[in-house]
Amino acid sequence: MKTTFSIIKADVGGCPGHSKVNEKLIEVANKMLRDGKENGTIKDFFVTNCGDDLELIMTHDKGENNEEVHSLAWNVFKEGSDLAKELGFYGAGQDLLKDAFSGNIRGLGPGIAEMEFTERKSEPIIAFMMDKTEPGAFNLPIYKIFADPFNTAGLIIDPKLHSGFRFEVWDIKEHKRVFLNAPEEMYDLLALIGAKSRFVIKRVYPKEGSLPEDEPVAVISTEKLYQIAGEYVGKDDPVAAVRAQSGLPALGEVLEPFAFPYLVSGWMRGSHNGPIMPVSNKNAKCTRFDGPPRAIAIGFQLKNGMLTGHEDLFDDPAFDYTRQEAERIADYMRRHGPFEPHRLPLEEMEYTTLPKVMDKLRDRFEPVS
Ligand code: F6R
Ligand code: MG
Ligand code: MG
Repeated sequence: MKTTFSIIKADVGGCPGHSKVNEKLIEVANKMLRDGKENGTIKDFFVTNCGDDLELIMTHDKGENNEEVHSLAWNVFKEGSDLAKELGFYGAGQDLLKDAFSGNIRGLGPGIAEMEFTERKSEPIIAFMMDKTEPGAFNLPIYKIFADPFNTAGLIIDPKLHSGFRFEVWDIKEHKRVFLNAPEEMYDLLALIGAKSRFVIKRVYPKEGSLPEDEPVAVISTEKLYQIAGEYVGKDDPVAAVRAQSGLPALGEVLEPFAFPYLVSGWMRGSHNGPIMPVSNKNAKCTRFDGPPRAIAIGFQLKNGMLTGHEDLFDDPAFDYTRQEAERIADYMRRHGPFEPHRLPLEEMEYTTLPKVMDKLRDRFEPVS
């Protein structure tokens, strides 16, 4: 039996400011997805938020890019935007960049991580959601999970993982993709994905083994808002889904990379680098300097397309030390103020509001010999 796991997300309004999704919007989403479940559009769902992003996690048997499922998500975001406007929430409807829905939600603003696969006897799957960062923020943890034996012990000691994994990497500027095998092409893979603002891991596939080689085991959203809108309209806070256990990295191997508060870009005005902080859903609100960037992880068990149980995985003292370290790094980065590398390099500021400031000075530049 094949199941599709879809995470579709959008910022349709924050309260207060860009910090968090208000409970009233969560209620609207829950109600509409409950209706969608009752009328058979989806099989099951879970609604949550990471900072100011409304996250719809849905299961169904309709495959990727399904019109009915995507239009349900679109309607939730539309309804949520309307309520956000009525209540004067901040940035109401900000990620809905087009007025009309036609066929599927891609290219309309919301971020999507969707994969269809044959359910195993027991199917653990983790939904990761981040706020105040960009799709490339997933490169480091996804690489570590599926290719780094210092993270994933199973790559060394479990024969089912020993042959490694295949990575689908997208060049999000040129709109091209390449498939690379790890461990054989590990250095080529790192050469690309280390440049995380341009090369983004889109999917991971198993190699020869017990799982079908054409069914993904991980998928990441890669939507870039400025490419759709043609200007800076907010950050492309990404989501990802990762399957675990039994021939795949263990749940704890999937979570382990987040014990390192690595640097990501997208903090404050989409223009700063800062540490990613793994937090519980309760603490997924962006406060200090609109951050620091946050990650949440909700783990599920799937059975016949139903979400039979879930857990808020970073709601755990095992990540307390990481959070403290993240705070220390946040402090260190903040002390640089407007200087790089806290502020992003100029080429990455191209799609923020900075060029408008620079325009003013353009005529005052004179040649120097
Ligand atoms: C939003 C974000 C925020 C905003 C900042 C300024 O996702 O990253 O840091 O960029 O709060 O927002 P405006 O210009 O709406 O006042
Ligand atoms: Mg916002
Ligand atoms: Mg956001």
